[in-house]
Amino acid sequence: MSATGNILVGVVMGSKSDWEVMKSASETLSRFAVPHECRVLSAHRTPEALVQYLREAENRGVEVWIAAAGGAAHLAGVVAAHTVRPVLGVPMQTATLGGLDSLLSMVQMPAGVPVGTLAIGKAGATNAALLAIAILANSRPELRQKLLEYRAEQAQKILSETLT
Ligand code: RP5
Repeated sequence: MSATGNILVGVVMGSKSDWEVMKSASETLSRFAVPHECRVLSAHRTPEALVQYLREAENRGVEVWIAAAGGAAHLAGVVAAHTVRPVLGVPMQTATLGGLDSLLSMVQMPAGVPVGTLAIGKAGATNAALLAIAILANSRPELRQKLLEYRAEQAQKILSETLT
């Protein structure tokens, strides 16, 4: 959703190879009709373009950042270094170490510049979007209402399960 207009959530990922997982974040934001934008930008492959984009997107209204990366997953920390808005990190699964490498490098930010780190992979992508929505919902009653309805739907689904 959105290409150049106002956006509330910016989703950046280090590689197009992250998109298969990160589209869950985009789908969740779309489900709540939250204007957002997804971009591939890397802390080490495109460092200057990343910083330029962060500034430009914040001028267009971004209030929360979601950053996904794998391996030496410094992208979320670099995003956090350039903003005081909330940054939610999603560690990507890796072929060599299963994503534990991404998780540890993302979650172990030294005190002072926080990254709110979610679970590895798709669950983290979905929850990063839900957490971004919860942050936005603090000042948007309509989003808060949608979150309450979403929780009620989940509860109803569990309660209606039958085991055969
Ligand atoms: C990170 O390296 C990306 O976020 C990705 O998760 C990982 C591998 O990237 P590719 O080699 O698939 O481009 O920067």
